[in-house]
Amino acid sequence: MKIISVVGARPNFMKIAPFINAIESYNKDNKISIEHILVHTGQHYDYRMSKSFFEALKIPPADINLGIGSGTHAEQVGHTMIAFEKVLIEEEPDWVVVVGDVNATLACSITAKKLNVRVCHIEAGLRSRDMQMPEEINRLVTDRLADLLLVPDRLSANNLFAEGCTNEQVVMVGNIMIDTLDANLEKALAISKSDIINRNIHLETSSKIILEDNNYAVVTLHRPSNVDNNETLKGILDFLTNFVAKKMPIIWPVHPRTEIKLKNFNLWEFLLSTPNIQLVYPLGYHDLLQLNINAKVMLTDSGGLQEECTVLGTKCVTMRWNTERPITLKKNGGVSVLVGNDLQLLEKEFKIFLKEDVKAIRPEMWDGKTASRCLDAILKFNS
Ligand code: UD1
Repeated sequence: MKIISVVGARPNFMKIAPFINAIESYNKDNKISIEHILVHTGQHYDYRMSKSFFEALKIPPADINLGIGSGTHAEQVGHTMIAFEKVLIEEEPDWVVVVGDVNATLACSITAKKLNVRVCHIEAGLRSRDMQMPEEINRLVTDRLADLLLVPDRLSANNLFAEGCTNEQVVMVGNIMIDTLDANLEKALAISKSDIINRNIHLETSSKIILEDNNYAVVTLHRPSNVDNNETLKGILDFLTNFVAKKMPIIWPVHPRTEIKLKNFNLWEFLLSTPNIQLVYPLGYHDLLQLNINAKVMLTDSGGLQEECTVLGTKCVTMRWNTERPITLKKNGGVSVLVGNDLQLLEKEFKIFLKEDVKAIRPEMWDGKTASRCLDAILKFNS
């Protein structure tokens, strides 16, 4: 059997690492091996957004890099499809495995199906029902096309059944990102927090905070709905500076999209001069995990961090109006609350979090063994 797996952007790397390990273990234990080709579309290309994850998670270098880079959505998807079609014609794989919901996921699923190659989607069935989110469009189209839909939880499976998917197509496997988290906890715990700041400090800033366990906030923001509008972003900054930073230090790994916007809106200088906020470059996997384990609170618009906070028991203020990962919400037993970018709600939920404790939970099958269940499902499909 020949499998091509696809990665494109940062949140894909922690999902593909355990899947590649599962193929390697299978090949050690079985006479007939699986031939595996890793394709990187190149959507994320900075060292800190891409290669650092390959190194940290010991992902073998991609066999093929399509070098797509930045661009509008149509440019990224179009260029990826043209380049990936050539790979498929040359390699003739039995399966294309895509993960998550980035532009690479969408582009490679369409290209594969047009050439009658089977598609397996890991992390299928997530729905935010927000068609303004580019990722929702990517998820809907990918799931409509995929032959095999591997879901992280029952809510996601139910979404797919409601859309007409069959029992043969949908297999619950758990959350593959938690395989990576479990495998890397020990290494993350051994890192010192002052080292994280020293290694990642933004060139234009000086070190101004000390991180004590359970007494700091971590901020990450990159969604267009939060960072692309001057007023919205300014409102969030006001909340962070006037409210959060007065109570505890904030460490903020700034996503490249957000850095560009902060500079365009003339907010960058203001942030640099705010006491108790430390801007750092996008962090490596282990550094962010270490900060997450010991944070008092996470303020984020990332879906992946909502899941990691759930398993680690870190309070998570999610700066979105909806989530495709409802299993992480406090009302469903998780640790996260949705506050959108409503500053009053943000303040209210943040205050509640300061007083109460949350418990770490592990939804069903978030047990670190998801990748081998993914590979099993592929091997059993139609066999
Ligand atoms: C993408 C994903 C999103 C994911 C996020 C995580 C899509 C539709 N979106 O959003 O689901 O949560 O990644 O990071 O696929 N840039 C760099 N260096 C890089 C990569 C990007 O400077 O290595 C810049 C680009 O020039 C661009 C901006 O960051 O201006 C945004 O990058 P892009 O790939 O368009 O999407 P993200 O916002 O990162």
